[in-house]
Amino acid sequence: MKIVVIGGTGLIGSKLVNNLRALDHEAIAASPASGVNTITGEGLAEVLAGTQVVVDVANSPSFEDKAVLEFFQTSGRNLLAAEEKAGVKHHVALSVVGTDRLAESGYFRGKIAQEKLIRESKIPYTIVHSTQFFEFLGGIAQSGTDGNTVRLSPAFVQPIASDDVAAAMVEFTLGAPRNGVVEIAGPERVRLSELVQRYLSKTKDPRTVVPDVHSRYFGAELEDDTLVPGENPRIGKLGFDAWFALPKPAR
Ligand SMILES: NC(=O)c1ccc[n+]([C@@H]2O[C@H](COP(=O)([O-])OP(=O)(O)OC[C@H]3O[C@@H](n4cnc5c(N)ncnc54)[C@H](OP(=O)(O)O)[C@@H]3O)[C@@H](O)[C@H]2O)c1
Repeated sequence: MKIVVIGGTGLIGSKLVNNLRALDHEAIAASPASGVNTITGEGLAEVLAGTQVVVDVANSPSFEDKAVLEFFQTSGRNLLAAEEKAGVKHHVALSVVGTDRLAESGYFRGKIAQEKLIRESKIPYTIVHSTQFFEFLGGIAQSGTDGNTVRLSPAFVQPIASDDVAAAMVEFTLGAPRNGVVEIAGPERVRLSELVQRYLSKTKDPRTVVPDVHSRYFGAELEDDTLVPGENPRIGKLGFDAWFALPKPAR
């Protein structure tokens, strides 16, 4: 199959492209670096010609509220319109577990807008909701940092390794469109504040995590179960310790 991966040079995109190529599919890593830009529309019609499946794993270069919303709205509109013209049969997108419960957050208002465009388009689709990637723990720590203190919610999370996300994305990309949401998560449910403390200790980072139920996660206050999946997520293989034990370039 010819499969175009939008954001194919990113963390998940590059792994997904490699996995699909290993299965002998024609997987194209599309991103501004390769001359395909979903914001300006540059290169979209050309790359989509003859494509059966499009996977969107792009992310906004800026996490500022207005910029994120504009990114996902403009990118989604341009991409889905170009897919309709090219006769694409399946649109697969990566989003986040709990997105619909996180409208207080500017970032998640962008993801909600992205998902709405997909549901309203004529193209059969699969929206994959993933929990937080272990690779994002440093970014989460940074988001709560004030000096040597990291203030974070003690809400539960069930994070997943990017290798497990990429493996799951292969299955959903090659499978039939679900026309709905599927969830993926890691094998262990832990409190966010405790996990980030473990991560900082293991990386010999001097910062200390202070659990605070009112601390906001990218703008949204969390309930205990806001970020955890429902009843039947696909579960990845790697827990935190196994992920951390990977050689450094792999994490
Ligand atoms: N981080 C998490 O814990 C988490 C959890 C669940 C779901 N997700 C979702 O996973 C997705 C992928 O995340 P990631 O961490 O793999 O992203 P990433 O590493 O930041 O990669 C982003 C990709 O988007 C591309 N891109 C940026 N602007 C573009 C444009 N105008 N047109 C086309 N491509 C563009 C980038 O291309 P260049 O390299 O050329 O700039 C890059 O390939 C995101 O949608 C995110 O919401 C993340």
